[in-house]
Amino acid sequence: MTNIAILGFGVVGSGIARVIETNEAEIRRLTSDTINVKYILDKREFPESPYKDRVVKDISVIISDPEVSIVCEAMGGVHPAYEFTMAAFMAGKSVITSNKELVANCGVELMHAARKHGVIYLFEASVGGGIPEIRSMRTSLAMDRMEKIDGIMNGTTNYILTRMKNGGVSFEEALKEAQSLGYAEANPSADVDGIDAQRKIMILSAIATNKLAEEAQVYAETMTKISSMDVDAASRSGHSVKLVGSFRKLEDGMTLYVCPRFVPLSDPLAHIEDVFNGIKVTCAMTGDVMYYGRGAGSYPTAAAMVSDITAIMTGCAKGELIMRWRHTEGEYVVPFEENSFSYYVRIKTDSVSDTDEKIHLVLGDAKKLEGAPLGYAEYITAEICEKDMRSAVDGGTLGEVESLIRVLD
Ligand code: HSE
Repeated sequence: MTNIAILGFGVVGSGIARVIETNEAEIRRLTSDTINVKYILDKREFPESPYKDRVVKDISVIISDPEVSIVCEAMGGVHPAYEFTMAAFMAGKSVITSNKELVANCGVELMHAARKHGVIYLFEASVGGGIPEIRSMRTSLAMDRMEKIDGIMNGTTNYILTRMKNGGVSFEEALKEAQSLGYAEANPSADVDGIDAQRKIMILSAIATNKLAEEAQVYAETMTKISSMDVDAASRSGHSVKLVGSFRKLEDGMTLYVCPRFVPLSDPLAHIEDVFNGIKVTCAMTGDVMYYGRGAGSYPTAAAMVSDITAIMTGCAKGELIMRWRHTEGEYVVPFEENSFSYYVRIKTDSVSDTDEKIHLVLGDAKKLEGAPLGYAEYITAEICEKDMRSAVDGGTLGEVESLIRVLD
């Protein structure tokens, strides 16, 4: 019997217990073993739960119990999850987690500590919920060169954008729906301001390069300013609006960022809807590899975590290539402003012909969109450096720019 402890008995933590119960026979068949949830660490009581007698309030009960070999951290946040994870490693316990904030901020130190103590640290559920992209990228794609990643990695915002597009629902209504379905983070800012996706693209970029960027190096833009006019312009011009996390491997470094994008309908990412996530990894040898599935919710996330548990139980995880992330140094992460994009631009104007002239004078080639609402002119520009675009917008040379959304290349 393998004894585990679950830290945090919320949506994901309670899902782990349910997946273990549901898959008992499968677990026995695959591992020739069983999983026993010996402890649950939570501040709350769960009087109605069959696990009510296993709830403890003090982490040291778990750390000091030699029978517990795997700790499942589903608490979220950096502290005290970091200290609890380190304490588990020091006590010779492996840890699995869905905590992207922790992995994105402290992955280097945690991986190093796990190696030092001869235990395992896995985080399949931290990106893409139930989608098995992390193990696949670090094992099956390890001998390819991952050059480009574009991902819709936040289920809540994808749900919101889908409802705005297909249901004509307002942003606020769609967010409420997402929260009631348990998709959104407790603080929706992490979802809608791109912070959750920022952490996820940091993790995937580190898998691609073995170098973990710092949060401050990764541009993240909110999607709360996306309006129904943007969604409509995207449809008229053959695009979908999506919140996309992107990574580009450059000659001597990398660049990574999260922002709303006009995704061409020819790209499979344009068709990822509802709470689903889609991650496209472009490799030097294989070309495009596409991952698709449920990126949030109790069961998908918990199922990915239980697969991490069974990977440790069967010894599979020990046989996997060891991750040795390092911090990025010097100018390895190229600032966002140095990137070039083509942009969707909407300008409020009394004279569309004057605006046409201005656009062509300042930005050169730009395709004018048909069917712009009265009092507006809309364009898709040629590729321009972000720095130049910003100075054109901030300097007022384009007139009253109401919307600026980068097109996915
Ligand atoms: N709030 C996150 C999402 C949960 O909506 O994708 C999964 O990380």
